[in-house]
This record gives sequence, structure tokens and C-alpha cells, in this order.
Amino acid sequence: MDIDIRPCASAEEVKHAIAPIAYYFGRSAPDESLAERLSRVLPAQRVYAAWEGGRAVGGLGAFPFQLTVPGGRVPAAGVTIAGVLPTHRRRGLLRALMRAQLDARHACGEPIAYLWATEGTIYGRFGFGLASFTAEIDLARERSAFHTPFSTFGHVRLVSLGTAEELLAPIYERVSVETPGMFARSSVWWQARRLADPELGRRGIGDLQCAVLEHEGRPAAYALYRINPAFQRGIQTGSVAAIEVIAASPEATRGIWRYLLDIDWMARVKADLLPVDHPLLLLVAEPRRLDFTLRDGLWVRLVNIETAMAARSYRDRGSVVIDVVDEFCPWNAGCWRVGSDGVERADDAPGLRCDISALGSVYLGGFTWSQLARALRVQELHPGAVAQADAIFEAGKAPWCPEIF
Ligand SMILES: CC(C)(COP(=O)(O)OP(=O)(O)OC[C@H]1O[C@@H](n2cnc3c(N)ncnc32)[C@H](O)[C@@H]1OP(=O)(O)O)[C@@H](O)C(=O)NCCC(=O)NCCS
Repeated sequence: MDIDIRPCASAEEVKHAIAPIAYYFGRSAPDESLAERLSRVLPAQRVYAAWEGGRAVGGLGAFPFQLTVPGGRVPAAGVTIAGVLPTHRRRGLLRALMRAQLDARHACGEPIAYLWATEGTIYGRFGFGLASFTAEIDLARERSAFHTPFSTFGHVRLVSLGTAEELLAPIYERVSVETPGMFARSSVWWQARRLADPELGRRGIGDLQCAVLEHEGRPAAYALYRINPAFQRGIQTGSVAAIEVIAASPEATRGIWRYLLDIDWMARVKADLLPVDHPLLLLVAEPRRLDFTLRDGLWVRLVNIETAMAARSYRDRGSVVIDVVDEFCPWNAGCWRVGSDGVERADDAPGLRCDISALGSVYLGGFTWSQLARALRVQELHPGAVAQADAIFEAGKAPWCPEIF
């Protein structure tokens, strides 16, 4: 039977398009409430599906994000719900869906696509490069003392999820606008995604809790978390699972983490999706006890190299000419001069040559050109070009995205 690749025309069709990825989460059909919440933040025409006889056998969506990059925000496609049913795998359906999705994003003038990958082997072939690391911790509360004695900062109160948005959103906005990798959240996103607490997302542990730290009468930090109580022979073995902890100042960061680390009955505090340069590493007296573990985070694909590169800022250290290889989006291929004066096509001899995925790796500031060179991901054609590119691209802050979309 023929397979047709086309965008969805309605929320009902989106429900079909998420069925393949829902299958891998063990669902025979997508959860109704999940589909309804998804359709509030993911327009149907941004979801491509592979249709076979009226049934979707593969799907690929792209949230319309405003992504923070070094120096500003830029429209970006948050690629999501990638799935192809096992009955149709390895016949090129993901490739066809990605082709349609990236072509559409290019036509709309959306210069960046990015995603979380379930496997590191899937997306490099489409020009995505590893752009950030993410960290997790698993800390025994009794080994969680801070390096410097803690003095109380502000006070913490529990708030209901129903009233949380107006307290949390301004803190998130302050942090996200200056953190590459974070995207602006709409009110709908807060309600349909971050503050939604469906049974499905709880994975057997407690309700989503929200604590807000206030200082001088203003919200300064918040923690969304779950309590996972457990006992063995009467001894507490449960844990706090921190879902999202965001603070607008170093003092507020220290205060909100102390709150989480001091919740009685809990033996451990666990968190994932933390930034690689998290202050906890230096706040605690015993960093080793954090069991701070890294894994790959965001993967970035420059869909339109000129617009994407022009959207971020650079240090005033001259320019570098980069010869870019891009098989999947050939309109990007060729030599580009990049520097604080702008981004343009170049005729002169390039200093660097790399695949487009390498640009995805350096774009948010998560990796340097030197790191790429040491891993043979970039060719230095002119001595000193790697060091100069590093000076130009220096971003000063590790990229971070606190949620998997
Ligand atoms: C990952 C998935 C979407 C791939 O779909 P697919 O239609 O089988 O992929 P395609 O046939 O278009 O494959 C395109 C290329 O990617 C490769 N590829 C696809 N999935 C891969 C995987 N999991 N590991 C390694 N390579 C993979 C294929 O071998 C093919 O290689 P080629 O370009 O050399 O020919 C599908 O296997 C799936 O739904 N997996 C479970 C859910 C999942 O992991 N989704 C991704 C969420 S981020």
C-alpha cells in the first residue's frame, strides 16, 4: 500500500500522528488527555505523518519555540513525537518525515530545529549536532551539607498548581531569556505542559508539588517536585524527585535547594535535566556525593545557516571563514564568513571545514571548536583558525533546557 507524507489537517489527525510514539510508551492508543493538551501547544499543520490507508504509521512534530541563543531569542522548531511503528521501521519513513519537516521550517523562515534524542545514533545523519550535556544527581540527604553554613534566605511556601503560574512564570522568564537552550513559555504551555499533572506522568510516585521561595515579598525561586515515600523495616528510604528548580539569584538557588534537601522522611534527593555547570557542585561540601552524572542533552540543527548564525552574538575578535558540508540541506553548503560584523557568503580561502552538525554543536555555546578539533569533527585549514573561532564564538554560559519536549 502507498504511503503518503503530509501534515495533519486537524487535532483529530494529530491524535493519529502521535499513535506511533505512544506505541513505544506501551499504549495501544494515545491517551485522550495527553492528545488534547498536546494539540493546545502543537498546531496540526506542524505535525507531519506517514499515512497508509487513512492510518498514521509514523509521525514527526515541531513546536513553535522562541529559543534563547547567545545574545537573543530566535524562532526554532522543537522537534517532537518522532515515531514509526515497528511494522514500518527502516523503510525510510523517518527520513521522509524529516525531509518534509525541515523543508517546511525552511520555507517558513524558521532557522533552527532542535530536539532531545532517545538514541544518539539517529539524528546526526540529518545534520543535528550534540549541543549540550544534561546532568542528574542522586544525593543522600545526610551527606548534603553545604560548604558554607547556610543562613536562611527568604521563606518558602507551598502553592497549589492552580495558582502557581503567576508566581513561577516571571522567574522562569528572567532565567530563560539569558540561558541558551531555554525557550519562552506561553501561558498555554504552563497549563498544558509544565503544571499539568496527569496520572500517566507520575510514574507511581506522588503528586506534583510546588514550593516558592519569596524574598522581600517577591518570588525569587521555585521547585516543582514529587515525594516518593518508602520505608524498610520502619527506616525511611524514600526520595524527593526534583522536577524543575529555577532561581533568579545565587542566594535563591541556595535557599530553594536547601529547602528540598531538608524535607523530612526523605532519604535521598534526586534530580535530572540539570545544567552541566550547576551551582550545587560548588555549594555542597562533598560534591562527589551528588553522584553528578552527565548524558547528552539537546541536539541542534541549523536549518538556515545564514539566519541562524546572524541571530546569535559573537565576540569582537575578527571573523572566520567556515566551509560547511550539508548533504541533507544543501542550501547551507559552502563558505561562510562569521564574526561580530555579521554572517555572509565568502569567496576567500576557508580557515575551517566541518559538517553542519559541528555548527549545531558550537551554536549554543555548549562545545568549543577546540573540543570539536580534538574529536576530529572539524578540519583546521589555516593555522590558528580553531583558536580564533573559539574567541569569536565564546558564549560564557553552558546551554540548559530543563524539560524534555
Ligand atoms: C527512530 C525511528 C523513528 C526511526 O524510524 P525509521 O522510519 O525506522 O527510520 P528510517 O528508516 O527513516 O531511517 C533513516 C536512517 O536512520 C537510521 N536509523 C533509524 N533509527 C535508528 C536507530 N534507532 N538507531 C540507529 N540508526 C537508526 C536508519 O538505519 C537509516 O539509516 P540510513 O540513512 O543510513 O539509511 C523508529 O525506529 C522509532 O519509532 N523508534 C522508537 C521511538 C523513538 O526512538 N523515537 C525517536 C524519539 S527522539
